[in-house]
Amino acid sequence: MKKHSEINRREFFKNASLAGAGLILSSGAAIASTSSNEEVLPSLPTRKLGPLTVTGLGLGCMSMVSGTYNPTPPKDEMIAHLRKAVEMGVTFFDTAEVYGPYGSEELVGEALEPFKGKITIASKFGFEIQNGRRMGRNATPESIKKVIDGSLKRLRVEAIDLYYLHRMDPNVPVEDVAGAVKDLISAGKVKHWGLSEVSPATLRKAHGELPVAALQSEYNMAERVVENQILATCEELGIGFVPWGPTHRSFLTGRFNEYSRFSSEDRRSQLPFFSAEGFGQNMGFLRIVRKWSQQKGITMAQFSLAWLLAQKPFIVPIPGTTSPQHLAENLGALSVKFTAAELAEIRKEMEPYQIMGVRAPETAFIDQ
Ligand SMILES: NC(=O)c1ccc[n+]([C@@H]2O[C@H](COP(=O)([O-])OP(=O)(O)OC[C@H]3O[C@@H](n4cnc5c(N)ncnc54)[C@H](OP(=O)(O)O)[C@@H]3O)[C@@H](O)[C@H]2O)c1
Repeated sequence: MKKHSEINRREFFKNASLAGAGLILSSGAAIASTSSNEEVLPSLPTRKLGPLTVTGLGLGCMSMVSGTYNPTPPKDEMIAHLRKAVEMGVTFFDTAEVYGPYGSEELVGEALEPFKGKITIASKFGFEIQNGRRMGRNATPESIKKVIDGSLKRLRVEAIDLYYLHRMDPNVPVEDVAGAVKDLISAGKVKHWGLSEVSPATLRKAHGELPVAALQSEYNMAERVVENQILATCEELGIGFVPWGPTHRSFLTGRFNEYSRFSSEDRRSQLPFFSAEGFGQNMGFLRIVRKWSQQKGITMAQFSLAWLLAQKPFIVPIPGTTSPQHLAENLGALSVKFTAAELAEIRKEMEPYQIMGVRAPETAFIDQ
């Protein structure tokens, strides 16, 4: 591995233990020794997303640039954070043309260039971007074949490992999108494709045209729409599932409460879930998360990620974080195990809870 990317192991171990991620080292991943007693970097457990093999947790790179939750973090810190993630064993990174716009792809491209070929980068297309602003949807074949070149350049790769349709364009049949991506695969610009927030019917149609590696949709303990036939469709067709928002934008980590206030730039300030009324109704749900985390001896973030991992073996959550400590903590979820009885009991406790600000189950059948 290149010199500039050498791990500061002392710092990693400090972060890991601070955040409770000693779990990773005890059972989930191995810190092996070579015959010369030189440490080998941790290797994390992997999972399959269709034909792809990636670490059981990926890293979401949306909030590393402006426009989502936190103020924009310093670029050099995010570059170091991304490189440290690789050093910790993460091989799966999630970005999109529209994050920034463009900034997240640029950051990921610059930070991860030294690891080209050793990691999996996913990006997304399908929004019209004008004057640095996201406009409506645009997934016409002409647009897809045009925007790919910008993404490749920003990501500094010859081919995108996993290229998702970010949202269905109501004016373009999914067969046409599949046809355009097929051409990109033939041209060597894309390796695999995926979709985001589509119905089981659209997913099935898309897969019939061109085998889909992964579906990426919102899923976490609070927001469980995809349990209504979407996960079952993935299972039946051999498609991987990538939950975005796996901590429900940090709610499930226990970081916020009814006294939390979000700045107007923070996307959460516009969501009913995070309003005073939402907190009033939803805080009680955290009692379940807290109780089980304490019982398992793990943090709430680890519990909510481990719960997702326990739902299906083809699930790979991509928690977004700008914090190396949070990343180390989150990776600890990879070594948490549940018994079938525990999973049944958790579900029994959470299912009756009426959460405010999440989607109704029937929305699963609509392309979002
Ligand atoms: N396909 C889509 O339509 C779609 C939509 C949204 C997002 N995504 C992708 O999914 C990724 C994740 O989704 P998301 O960022 O919306 O939701 P998320 O991962 O559930 O939540 C991100 C938030 O959680 C915080 N966080 C992470 N780990 C934490 C921990 N251990 N303790 C406390 N707080 C923690 C982060 O803050 P810190 O930075 O302070 O850690 C950040 O504010 C994104 O980065 C993006 O790549 C896709």
